[in-house]
Amino acid sequence: MAPFARLNALLALAAVSTTQVLAQSCPCGYKDSNGHVWREAIVSTFTQPAGALAALSPNWLVGTDLESQPSPATASIQYVTANVFQFNDALGLKASAYDNSGSVKSGEIFTARSDILYGSFRMQAQVPSVPGVVFGFFTYISDTQEQDIEFLSSDPDYYQHLYYTNQPGTVGGVVDTAAAKNVVVPGADFTTFGVHRFDWLPASTVYSYSGNTDSGTPISSTTTITKNVPTTPSEFVLNVWSNGDPGFSKGPPTADAIATIQYVHLYFNSTSFSAASFNSACSAAHNVAPCNV
Ligand SMILES: *[C@@H]1O[C@H](CO)[C@@H](O)[C@H](O)[C@H]1NC(C)=O
Repeated sequence: MAPFARLNALLALAAVSTTQVLAQSCPCGYKDSNGHVWREAIVSTFTQPAGALAALSPNWLVGTDLESQPSPATASIQYVTANVFQFNDALGLKASAYDNSGSVKSGEIFTARSDILYGSFRMQAQVPSVPGVVFGFFTYISDTQEQDIEFLSSDPDYYQHLYYTNQPGTVGGVVDTAAAKNVVVPGADFTTFGVHRFDWLPASTVYSYSGNTDSGTPISSTTTITKNVPTTPSEFVLNVWSNGDPGFSKGPPTADAIATIQYVHLYFNSTSFSAASFNSACSAAHNVAPCNV
């Protein structure tokens, strides 16, 4: 091989190294509890000994955007790196106590890649309990290609109340109950660690929760939305924010409002790693069984 050809080969290898690392660990993909197989994974363990922030690299970026908000919001959202932090042996995302500066310091992480198309996405987390913020776990590429799990800490029953939405969640300014499901899970306590999940499939988004009641009884809940299922490759996002909107986030918070995340597991297909490439990688690995997830 000529020296420059070898260099090109090395550069090509470097460019696909993330995919290759994942492909090598489970070369025939990941089979979920519903029997769906996913080609790739981002498995982020924020409780790892090296620390939560070290688990962000290389898959996650930290938000730094300033997002001005239309009325009736009373403040802008300013994502800041300091609001993504090591917290209680896990990852903390917070919206800071409002300082009346005109913007609420908020916390966000999002995937470096925006080529995710269908998958099974889970986090083990505790919701914020200080009123006046939104905690979101969602795919996003535009305001009409987005599917969300959101928690509103101002709800009196915020510790068992879920907002599942395939955007847009309204039609003509009115909530579209086929696309936006407001779910209460009696007995649940989202301020203790539980698993929040959604499975993005071509014809539906299946949202679920699995945890324990405060007395230790397992509890779960599943909600399927078939309207407005996104069809566009997307990024994955987690955030905690407030804009003071009296109709939604409420607040801004008067104390720091923190979500605590122990892990995020994303199992997915993407437009960058084709079924054909996946099949070749799997057969090169002698068609081992997919990893069960
Ligand atoms: C994801 O990829 C696997 C393996 O290529 C394929 O069998 C499956 O149909 C894909 N899922 C979706 C929803 O496209």
